[in-house]
Amino acid sequence: MTRLLAIPGSLRRASYNAALLRNAAELAPADVSVEVATLHGIPLYDGDLEARDGIPEAVTALKERIAAADGLIIATPEYNNGIPGVLKNAIDWISRPPADQARVLRDRPVALVGATPGGFGTVLAQTAWLPVLRTLGLRLWTGGRLTVAGAARIFDDEGRLTDEDLRARLGEFVAGFADFARG
Ligand SMILES: Cc1cc2nc3c(=O)[nH]c(=O)nc-3n(C[C@H](O)[C@H](O)[C@H](O)COP(=O)(O)O)c2cc1C
Repeated sequence: MTRLLAIPGSLRRASYNAALLRNAAELAPADVSVEVATLHGIPLYDGDLEARDGIPEAVTALKERIAAADGLIIATPEYNNGIPGVLKNAIDWISRPPADQARVLRDRPVALVGATPGGFGTVLAQTAWLPVLRTLGLRLWTGGRLTVAGAARIFDDEGRLTDEDLRARLGEFVAGFADFARG
């Protein structure tokens, strides 16, 4: 079994990015599991808080889930043509302390996806992540690209992807990334 951990970069209950990942879990091949994590409970990064209390429990739990996974799928919203703060904040916490980066992040396979009601499918946010992933030494899969535009039209009220072509492409994306992740 190839184990993938998927992180949606939105706290919104009806998040399209979280829904995209739940659909990815459903469409994954039988020998691939996709667990969808949450960023709820992660505080704003504060160096004073870190010095006083160490790494928050929610961050440690997420770090351990990343360390145990064969690969990471990040679903990024796009805010003002860039990275949303909630998701960057989480990755910043996950990168702490630097001594843990090798075990948790370095060389870990990662894939980027993103969904937006807008017309450009998070292409700018996905591009904005590249220097961050490089800095942390994650191993980006570039064999597939998934930018989901017009999200309000292609998810139903339960968050199910209704576009058959996109469902097929999402399934292929997960399968391709899982092949890369298992090495
Ligand atoms: C502050 C802010 C800035 C946004 N900027 C963009 C943007 O630059 N491009 C875009 O496609 N959507 C933009 N949006 C719309 C988001 O794509 C939309 O809120 C989306 O639903 C967020 O992802 P989620 O559904 O996973 O929460 C923005 C939304 C907010 C709140």
